[in-house]
Amino acid sequence: MNIRETMGRMLRQHDDKDAQAAPDALTLIKSDHEEAKALFARFLDSSTPSAQRRSALTQVLDALTIHTNMEEQIFYPALRKAGGSEEKKSVLEAVEEHASAKDLIAKIRALPPRDETLTAKVTVLKELIEHHVEEEESQVFSEARRVLGNKLEALGAEMQRFKDRAKRGENNARTKTTTGKSSDTVAPRTTSRGKTSAKKRTATTAKKRTAATARGRKKTRR
Ligand SMILES: [Fe+2]
Repeated sequence: MNIRETMGRMLRQHDDKDAQAAPDALTLIKSDHEEAKALFARFLDSSTPSAQRRSALTQVLDALTIHTNMEEQIFYPALRKAGGSEEKKSVLEAVEEHASAKDLIAKIRALPPRDETLTAKVTVLKELIEHHVEEEESQVFSEARRVLGNKLEALGAEMQRFKDRAKRGENNARTKTTTGKSSDTVAPRTTSRGKTSAKKRTATTAKKRTAATARGRKKTRR
């Protein structure tokens, strides 16, 4: 077996291992919800030392940012694509709830450390997330089970990879989105590339025409 075959085999084994280890999409979402719940509780518990409160707050804001982006870019588009009008309605509503959460997250991040509204804002964020989680784990989960069925495992693996990349600071602009736009409202990369190419083509054609006109004028003068 040559080096290329060995490397290919190793990569395939690594991918298989990832897929086996990853939870399905709904288990992954639920475990993120549990994590956020525990972090909110730690922050809001007045007996928690202040350094731990600050750490819990940073962790929950980061976790929610990654979680909402992961859902908007992978889970919701898959649900919308596989489902019908009911699923589309649920996804649109969920994205709006995410947008409200993201606005509040941005406000909390921008607060000075001892701002008197901090705890009030985090409490409102917690309540907003609790409401969202309740709807997601009841209605959205049952829709996902019905329309996505056995695709939930592969989707879970994809979502886990997204989370891992985001935690390593990858995914760049895609995870830094704070506009609340869902992935399906963001122009696909191919389209923007296509537009650039079209512009380039137009510019090249214009240059060629100008050069041809200049050559024509020279000839006429001769
Ligand atoms: Fe969500």
